[in-house]
Parts: sequence; structure tokens; C-alpha cells
Amino acid sequence: MNITLKQLLAFTTVSRHLSFTKAAAELNLTQPAVSMQVKQLEEQIGQALFEQMGKKIYLTEAGREVRNYARTILQQVEDLDAHLSSFKDLERGTLRISVATTAHYFAPKLLSIFYKRYPGVNVKLDVSNREQLISQLENNEVDMVIMGRPPVETEIEGGVFMENPLVLIAPKDHIFGRERSIQLKRLEQEVFLVREEGSGTRKAMELFFKQHGIRMTTGMEVSSDEAIKQSVQAGLGLGIMSRDAVQNEMQLGHLIVPDILHFPIMRQWHVLHRKGKRLSPIALAFKTFLLNEASAILNREPHFDSMSQANTPVQDPHQTQFRTYEPAKPQTAITGPDGKPIPPVPLKKSLKI
Ligand code: PGA
Repeated sequence: MNITLKQLLAFTTVSRHLSFTKAAAELNLTQPAVSMQVKQLEEQIGQALFEQMGKKIYLTEAGREVRNYARTILQQVEDLDAHLSSFKDLERGTLRISVATTAHYFAPKLLSIFYKRYPGVNVKLDVSNREQLISQLENNEVDMVIMGRPPVETEIEGGVFMENPLVLIAPKDHIFGRERSIQLKRLEQEVFLVREEGSGTRKAMELFFKQHGIRMTTGMEVSSDEAIKQSVQAGLGLGIMSRDAVQNEMQLGHLIVPDILHFPIMRQWHVLHRKGKRLSPIALAFKTFLLNEASAILNREPHFDSMSQANTPVQDPHQTQFRTYEPAKPQTAITGPDGKPIPPVPLKKSLKI
């Protein structure tokens, strides 16, 4: 069967009006042109679609069947058109992002601001650990990911948008809370709760201990930052995690961040996508938003230093000027046992992982 959309459109319009003249007027065609389309369709199908009784025309049984299918086909073509145009459209696009487990502490705040700017955008947010993010990137399942360290095994593009210090956390009555400038060696007497294999935080932690020649005793393996915090509070061991994840507990005094030399472990948050991926306008707008604005929104240092693209703020298609950054003041001061703020460890002394 060789039928065309034009024929289906002419036929469904005639079937709705039960009049060739009215269908021609609606389609902006001549009446013979509409009759020709319907006739060609009937030839293809091998059956009459209309029958004439007196001055009126009616659908035949075959005509009713064809009308039902034709409506579905035309509706699907319309849906396809709407869907495809949403790829080109900043107002209605779909943004598929996946963020590292730890990034879920700040991603919703950024998304809520982005949403206000592009209210029609449909966001699909997935939260996974580092290993799963890499597989999503490789399989092109997402537009982009937010993670702590770019994978070496996959070709990617993107940049750094914010610092991500990893701090050591201890229960509030731990002896470390009463000391300053604690030597790393002392950590050998402690038990550490670790995230699951595949976690970026765990990798960074293991590398840090290895590079400093510190023997790490691992206790429970726990696959969520929330559960690690609870376990540390319960005295099951110490933990290391992104400062993003412990802001509340630090403020409430449920956990302490002791003054250990060489801490925090300095890392950065990256926004990454597969090399050469053609980002949709909405995905590009989100990437630009992260690179240009995220650190200011979250009141943090942008810390542009690890990937080439990250060093240049990207032009937002909706803004005419680049943003300039003021070094951000930390929202939460880390205080020592005497209540005085502990100055941040100078970046150059910190280890970048
Ligand atoms: P994680 O990732 O949640 O898998 O530990 C954080 C990161 O990539 O640094």
C-alpha cells in the first residue's frame, strides 16, 4: 500500500464534514484536488470510502475503519512534530541529568532557580554513584552529569563549577574536638566508615590515605551519606564526606569537623557530557548556568582550575554580559572546640584528588 499523509488528511477532513466543498475550504485546496486525494486513497486501499445517497455522502464500513487509523496516524505525526520541536526550544525542552549521590545536597537548589528561568523545561534528575554516572555517560543515557572527578576512561567535555572540600567528621564528644592541628598519623587509630565500591568519595578517601602513607582501618560499608552521618553520630567510627553533605549537622552541633592537618581534601564539582555530544539548547543553557552561576548562588569559590573549558566563563544565551565572581565567604564557619572559627586550609597545601 502506498498511501500518503496528504491523502489521509484530505480523507479525514472530508469524513469530518461529510462534504468535499467544506473540506476543500478548510484545507485551502480546490474541491477537485481534495476529490483526487480521496480517489487515490480509495485506489490504494481497493475499496470505496464514501457512498452517495441522494445529495449526501456517508462513510462506508471500510471508510470508518480507515478514518480511525488515519486519525491515529495523523495524531502521531503531530506529536512527533511537537516532540522534535521541543529539542530546538528553550521553553519546552527536556533536560536529563544525573548527579553523584553527594551532589543531591545542592542540586535541587540550583534546579529550582533554573526552573524559574525556564518554567516549561521538563527535568529528569537521577541520583547515582560515580560508577553508575560513568556508565550513563558512556551509554548516552543523560545529557550531562555532575560528579566529583572526570573519568579517565571515557572521552568527555565539561568543566569545574565549584569547589568540593571533603571533611573528616566525628561524633560531637570525640577527643579530636578538643585538639588543634592533629597529625594525620593519629587517624591510624580510628575506624572509618566507608561508602560503597563505585563511590567517588570512597575513591578520593582511599587515594588520600595512600598518598599520605596512612593505614586506614575500615569499619562498616554504608551506601548513603545520610546513614554514614547517623553511624558516626552513634559512635561507630569516623567518616569523610563532602562538606555539602554535613552543613546541617555541623550547624546543629550533631557532628564535629576536627582540625586535622591536610584536611579538607580539596576536590571540585564538574559538569560533564560526552565529548562531541550535541547538547540541546536547554542542556546548553543548564551547563552554562552551572559554569557561570552555581558557585555564586551557593556562595562558594568557583575554583576554576582543573579543566580547560572551566577557566573561561561561558556566555549565557539569555544574558548579554559575563558574570564576574566575588570570592565567596563560606556560609558556615567551621569552629574549633573553643568556638573560634578554624581558618580554611590554604588551597596550595591541600591535596587535589
Ligand atoms: P559519590 O560521588 O556520591 O559517588 O561519592 C561524589 C563524587 O563523584 O565525588
